[in-house]
Amino acid sequence: MSERLLYEGKAKRIFATDEEGVLLHRYKDDATAFNAQKRGSWVGKGRTNATMSAALFKFLESRGVATHFIEQVDDETIKTKKLQMLPVEVIVRNVAAGSLAKRLGYEEGTPLKSTIIELCYKSDELGDPMFNWYHFREVGVADEELKRCEEIGLGVNELLYPFFDEKGVLLVDFKIEVGRDEGGELMLADEISPDTCRFWDKESGEKLDKDRFRQDMGGVEQAYEEMLRRVTHMGPMGTME
Ligand code: C5P
Repeated sequence: MSERLLYEGKAKRIFATDEEGVLLHRYKDDATAFNAQKRGSWVGKGRTNATMSAALFKFLESRGVATHFIEQVDDETIKTKKLQMLPVEVIVRNVAAGSLAKRLGYEEGTPLKSTIIELCYKSDELGDPMFNWYHFREVGVADEELKRCEEIGLGVNELLYPFFDEKGVLLVDFKIEVGRDEGGELMLADEISPDTCRFWDKESGEKLDKDRFRQDMGGVEQAYEEMLRRVTHMGPMGTME
């Protein structure tokens, strides 16, 4: 299959293929944080993120969530539908951590009274600021689209929270992105991985995600591997194929 590089991001490259409307997302071993001010890399990261995303997209599809996922084609690459992406990052939170702990003046780990959703404008230049619906109108994102983003985020949380709970993991928060397919349907896109979620071991509270890299905690490679192992291990609910 021929490939044409369309986009190179911090942690992945996206290629067009000779199949109309189909893309390849190839995950890199590179990591960045704090809007690319901090950089790193470790062997196996691309494989973990591609394989975990594939497994989670398959799980969500099996529960009726529309996603861009078609298939995993090799260790680091997934094939997806080509979507028109909304410039929105949808953050869903169950427990206070990261920027929310700062915003509310909470200690990290404080449970939230109810799920919190934040919508951010996807812009490296501006540092992905949190926008309200008026700001989004200004940049051309409609209320209906934001409403759907929130519904998709909450729906994904309702499925992933118990999925991870069963694997001994607290899903603290995560970020998703949404795009529109050729038929006009808005659906889940991008990735779901330790780069985009906070995962804490339920027993020990140990962080098993990108915060280990952001905070120079060490053991980041092992944490990603451990999360991949837990996600791809068959659970009692028959969560994996
Ligand atoms: O940093 P903050 O606490 O706002 O992050 C909330 C969640 O969204 C975390 O799981 C983080 O990994 C994810 N996130 C992301 N990409 C961003 C910003 C946040 O994946 N650009």
